[in-house]
Amino acid sequence: MLGIDLTGRRALITGSSSGLGRAMAEAFAEAGAKVAVHYRSPDDHADQAAAEAIAAAITQAGGKAQAFAADISRAEEVESLFQAIDTDFGGLDVLVNNAGMDGTRALCSEGKIQDWEAVVRVDLFGAYYCARQALQRMNRQKHGVIINITSVHEFIPWEGYSAYASAKAGLSMFTKTLAQETADAGIRVLAIAPGAIQTPINKSVWDNPQTLQDLDKKIAMGRLGTPREIASVAAFLASDLASYMTGTTVAVDGGMLIYPDFRQGG
Ligand code: BGC
Repeated sequence: MLGIDLTGRRALITGSSSGLGRAMAEAFAEAGAKVAVHYRSPDDHADQAAAEAIAAAITQAGGKAQAFAADISRAEEVESLFQAIDTDFGGLDVLVNNAGMDGTRALCSEGKIQDWEAVVRVDLFGAYYCARQALQRMNRQKHGVIINITSVHEFIPWEGYSAYASAKAGLSMFTKTLAQETADAGIRVLAIAPGAIQTPINKSVWDNPQTLQDLDKKIAMGRLGTPREIASVAAFLASDLASYMTGTTVAVDGGMLIYPDFRQGG
């Protein structure tokens, strides 16, 4: 049977206390993986409680999961995170660099420098710090998969979000370069570019009928995606079913990238 099987794989999914990360944690566990459910900080009690509840629900359903905290924009916290996973899981087979933020909407000339830096620190540097630690382990064991969650905005410019779009385009090239560096070591590095998926990150848009209608028009399928529709692709890419895939971005966007506006006219 051609099912997705991640039995025995140890997977870290950053930012998995909500949204896409949560759906990936649940799907990976369902496919047999042991999942590190990552959240930002124990100082954020709601975030910690969410991560622990997700890990507990997975365990209750017969799966394996544990919650871990780290601010991924700080290299030393990422190092401690990986050491904790070494201790508790005995190593790592799959890293999903999912944690990210859109940032505050502001034109480049008007926004604050620290806001721009904060987005790039999480969305790009955070992925780099995690990949660096993961690859040190994967190179030794001669296998592993890294999946970077980019966005349609690795391709589509987005006014007011230059930090986000730049970080995601950077993450795309980071994906390809790492894939080139590691292909002969049995490691695969891929990216998923989600379109508009209904998660807390864009709640203000889908919560308002007017902005939702505008967003739906930008999607060929005419609707937002669900977190599960990203998670199933991520589980497939992490599995041996995708054993010949590396160094590419898979768009999961309901057709945002096929310019639905061009159905008429032109
Ligand atoms: C962003 C969402 C946005 C979507 C489509 C995603 O990468 O995180 O906020 O709705 O792109 O523009």
